Amino acid sequence: MDYELQDHEFEKISRLVYDVCGIALHEGKREMVRTRLIKRLRSRNLRSFSDYYRYVTAPEGTGELIAMIDSLSTNLTNFFREDGHFARLKSVVQSWRVSLWGNGHLPQLRVWSAGCSTGEEPYTIAMVLSELISLGQVDLKILATDISTAVLKKAAEGVYAEDKIKNVPIALRRKYFLMGVKEWEGFYRVRENLRLPIEFARLNLKEPFSFKEPFDVIFCRNVMIYFDRKMQQLVVNRFYDCLKEGGWLFIGHSESLTGITHRFKYIEPSVYRK
Ligand SMILES: C[S@@+](CC[C@H](N)C(=O)[O-])C[C@H]1O[C@@H](n2cnc3c(N)ncnc32)[C@H](O)[C@@H]1O
Repeated sequence: MDYELQDHEFEKISRLVYDVCGIALHEGKREMVRTRLIKRLRSRNLRSFSDYYRYVTAPEGTGELIAMIDSLSTNLTNFFREDGHFARLKSVVQSWRVSLWGNGHLPQLRVWSAGCSTGEEPYTIAMVLSELISLGQVDLKILATDISTAVLKKAAEGVYAEDKIKNVPIALRRKYFLMGVKEWEGFYRVRENLRLPIEFARLNLKEPFSFKEPFDVIFCRNVMIYFDRKMQQLVVNRFYDCLKEGGWLFIGHSESLTGITHRFKYIEPSVYRK
């Protein structure tokens, strides 16, 4: 069966996606929307995109709405992706260690990976920080959030095929991953000690968010690229409000805050500070 995506159907679906999660699907994404949603239509035995739209917007379609957003979001990620940010994180934490720590209190370090996809980013953060600090000496918490429940499930499982971890230096691989055997040969599982400081949770950046404790560092990389300016501005200003004074914001290398109104201090491309 040939599923055609009519103009009015594409418009309705893209408006719905924008309203739910802020992802802006412009005309260039039309074929992507069609091919990705065909599988969803089939799984629900629906014959047209209009039927599908009616279904996801009906009260019984809430679960399918989540599945629709899952299938339309781009989840590409990697361990040590854009690794300059991790070198920066290292030097920032090293400078804090010298200036703030050692005054008798257990220092806290709060990091947020917003749009963490399948977990490579928060696990990389955890590896970099674990190499610098001992978890008994620092109260480290990494919050890792995404809108997609499917990627969060994978992230929490922490199992990766060998080619996925090729960017992880051998020494870190040995220290933080367990090599699979028998039916798990070719796969690596994140060790418990690396997972321990990370909390995975579903969070939609389109919806208001606030936290009891402010963050030292926020990573929101390659997420806002899918939003329009209005949504980017909203999210960036909310990030500002939930960072500590002097806290850091890392965004993707192909992203920038140019053209939006914000209070961050520019440090270098893709690095900002409160
Ligand atoms: C390309 S991945 C980026 C992963 C990682 N940050 C990196 O740079 O490698 C983008 C992620 O943003 C998530 N995302 C998109 N819209 C979102 C929203 N409104 N709220 C939370 N996460 C969202 C997607 O589900 C996807 O997992």
